[in-house]
Amino acid sequence: MKLRPLLLLSLAACAFLVVLNDRSSAQGGAATAGDDEAARIRIGFQVAPVPLSLRHKDPNLVGLGSYIVNTRISCNDCHTNPPWVPGHNPHLGQKPAEINAAAYLAGGNKFAGGLIVSRNITPDSHGLPAGLTFAQFVRTLRTGIDPDDPPNLLQIMPWPYFRTMSDHDLAAVYEYLRAIPSLPSAAGTPP
Ligand code: HEC
Repeated sequence: MKLRPLLLLSLAACAFLVVLNDRSSAQGGAATAGDDEAARIRIGFQVAPVPLSLRHKDPNLVGLGSYIVNTRISCNDCHTNPPWVPGHNPHLGQKPAEINAAAYLAGGNKFAGGLIVSRNITPDSHGLPAGLTFAQFVRTLRTGIDPDDPPNLLQIMPWPYFRTMSDHDLAAVYEYLRAIPSLPSAAGTPP
């Protein structure tokens, strides 16, 4: 067959490229996707502002979820009231910055002149974040439909942006919220 040498040559070229690629990552060049996620998980555990319960959880998902929630999307800004410990608000130049762990993600922040109040998204007595099963949580973040008042849409809550997150990232956020301490809702927080 005439084609055969050509095929063999291209296979050899591919193998050579694979070897080259491998060497560049081993030398600290392009990091693989796995390495990148390991770094995020590590940082996630470093920045979590509250003790985490890892019992019956996937620790990798918890770490990744913490990375997303605490470094990428600040659920804290809107779901913790106030978000920073008084005297430790970095926006006011106060040091060291300290997240208000005692009220972490328990809701109660007022928007639109108090018409809209953020919800408690810590685990309820059954361990469900915001009282939502995983399926309900995903549906809420993907559609914005208020699970407590359908078909009304959640206001202020940035679900139009969150809805394009990958399934894996949403699973990580949910797993992290399962691992944070359960807190009673802040005063004035809707159910
Ligand atoms: C810009 C402010 C803001 C940010 C950031 C934000 N939220 Fe919200 N969220 C709200 C508000 C306000 C509500 C209630 C909206 C309403 O009543 O219409 C809400 C509602 C929710 C609900 C519905 C809860 C229920 O019981 O019905 C969930 C779940 C939720 N947020 C999760 C999150 C998560 C997870 C993050 C971070 C990844 C986040 N939110 C970030 C403002 C925010």
